[in-house]
Amino acid sequence: MTAPTATAPDRERPEGEDRARGSGAVVDPVDQDLLAGPPGATAALLRSLLAPLRARVAAAALLLLLQQAAVQAGPLLVAYAIDRAVPALRAGDSGPLVAVAAGYLLCSVAGGALQYGFIILSARVNQDVLLELRGRIFRHAQALSVDFHERYTSGRLISRSTTDVESLRELLGDGLQELVTVVLSFVSISLMLLWLDLGLGAVAVGSFVPLCLLIRSYQRRAGRVYAERSTAMAAVIVKFVETLNGIRPVRAFRREAANDADFAVLNARHERTNGDALLEMARYVVGSRLVANTAVAGIVLWGAYRVAEGTLALGVLAAAVLYLRRLYDPIDRLGMFLNSYQSAGASLEKIAGLLAQTPSVPEPAAPGELPPLASEHPGREVVFDAVSFGYRTGGEVLPRFDLVLPAGQTVAVVGSTGAGKSTLAKLLARFYDPSAGRVLLDGTDLRELAVPELRRGVVMVTQEAFLFSGTVAENIAIGRPSATREEIERAARAIGAHEFIAALPDGYDTDVRKRGGRISAGQRQLVAFARALLADPAVLILDEATSSLDVPGERAVQRAMATVLRGRTAVVIAHRLSTVEIADRVLVMEGGRIVEDGPPAELIAGTGRFAHLHRAWRDSLS
Ligand SMILES: Nc1ncnc2c1ncn2[C@@H]1O[C@H](COP(=O)(O)OP(=O)(O)OP(=O)(O)O)[C@@H](O)[C@H]1O
Ligand SMILES: [Mg+2]
Repeated sequence: MTAPTATAPDRERPEGEDRARGSGAVVDPVDQDLLAGPPGATAALLRSLLAPLRARVAAAALLLLLQQAAVQAGPLLVAYAIDRAVPALRAGDSGPLVAVAAGYLLCSVAGGALQYGFIILSARVNQDVLLELRGRIFRHAQALSVDFHERYTSGRLISRSTTDVESLRELLGDGLQELVTVVLSFVSISLMLLWLDLGLGAVAVGSFVPLCLLIRSYQRRAGRVYAERSTAMAAVIVKFVETLNGIRPVRAFRREAANDADFAVLNARHERTNGDALLEMARYVVGSRLVANTAVAGIVLWGAYRVAEGTLALGVLAAAVLYLRRLYDPIDRLGMFLNSYQSAGASLEKIAGLLAQTPSVPEPAAPGELPPLASEHPGREVVFDAVSFGYRTGGEVLPRFDLVLPAGQTVAVVGSTGAGKSTLAKLLARFYDPSAGRVLLDGTDLRELAVPELRRGVVMVTQEAFLFSGTVAENIAIGRPSATREEIERAARAIGAHEFIAALPDGYDTDVRKRGGRISAGQRQLVAFARALLADPAVLILDEATSSLDVPGERAVQRAMATVLRGRTAVVIAHRLSTVEIADRVLVMEGGRIVEDGPPAELIAGTGRFAHLHRAWRDSLS
């Protein structure tokens, strides 16, 4: 996550809702969007995954080649037995037959041993590839910017790293071996047949033409179906994850029946695409068998005539039929392989598209450094220099924004809902970059700051205080991982969180996930506050950070802040105007602009919007 107080801003925004509701004819804009990776991204991804394993891949290929040679020797030995060893036996010489039997046995044993080696080796390669791929997806997803995650739901990411990786596993597990085996046996058997008998060989090779046409048409049609199927599966997972993430509003608004209906639509779509895939597969299998059996029948018929004529040895015909069976047997499995090839291709393309996304808030190539802080001045100056900003999906939120916050100033930002206060905060924490203009920290553009420096410099605490799995102490220590238990406790005490933490069953060692229900929203905010205190940033942003606290709790935090914030630059966004009392300066925002700016006492005494707000607020208290 980004800031030590990492929260998921706008997590509750129903990103996928219109899509999920769009029953049936769903074109997934985000998925489509992401597929547009650079051309060749999929092949490049596969190459980069296999490159470090090149030696082992080559060794596995060699084992497979030798194994095929051992296996393909079988029918040749049978032909030899029929045409040479049997006549020799009749003549009283059992030597050739014994040699053939021994040779056959040797080939079987060698083939088995080689296959054993191949399976072990290729399984290792597969494991390494999948491990690396999952790791890459996770690292990359984490590195992508906030705006990406607002568009691409977590369900979709889960689907990338589960079903999509899984379909690649199927391909690498058996599919690739099948393909290599099939291609090898096609080549070696064709050559063998042509060598045994030119005419029979030509018939066998001729049958490849309709087979290849069949395979191509299958690939084209199935490719489309598999892409649809994997999108449909992702939609099912997205709906699942989204519903369970929002289980509380689902309950509160009795959305269960509507969700069930939506889910049924998505599920049915997945089932339909699955059915389409099976249908394509069935057509292919039936078609290929028809071609294969026709070819075998033709060869038996023609071969038998020639044996009767005396132009073909019986052993050669027997070997040819055995070879043909071996040739056509794997065709069904080739269908299955094409199956996994298609779905793995669709999956890999999606993964490659995801991995090709670049963060919209990139790390600087040559990061700048901030000047060292004077110890009596732990704050930094913040400047918004002609900043314009709009979210990807909407119009301009901040039209042209200029603001200077001197180091050490505590600024309260107030304004109506949707005025752009949180947007201002998120730009300062660099969750987004401005579309024009610059945000400067002590004169350095945020875009030029190394990420660790930025995270140390600017910390944001928001309303949705997020706790990670782990203990309370660990959650506070996210602010500064090197902190000792004493420092953690001191931060908690300063903020007034110590009492409730000490009262938990295991105190600071209470697991927040297991005890999630015991920690209230306000208590979570206190933990997030302690985390921010411990992080000790030069610029602290509080966006509705005390909104869940009761009045005494908020007072305690304010008292703590008065000492903690001394000398630091602080941006405090709050609807409750009590927070304003600790501010040196108040900004009133409307429609992305600052409409009032001044010391609180001065604004309250005036006749402007803040004076109005403040009066209304005071009246509401009495
Ligand atoms: N992630 C987002 N994607 C698209 N538009 C957004 C996003 N976040 C906010 N907006 C829009 O930007 C505008 C300003 O939102 P912002 O969250 O900055 O308001 P705010 O002043 O913090 O309001 P509040 O007091 O309700 O928190 C709003 O019109 C909002 O709809
Ligand atoms: Mg806000």
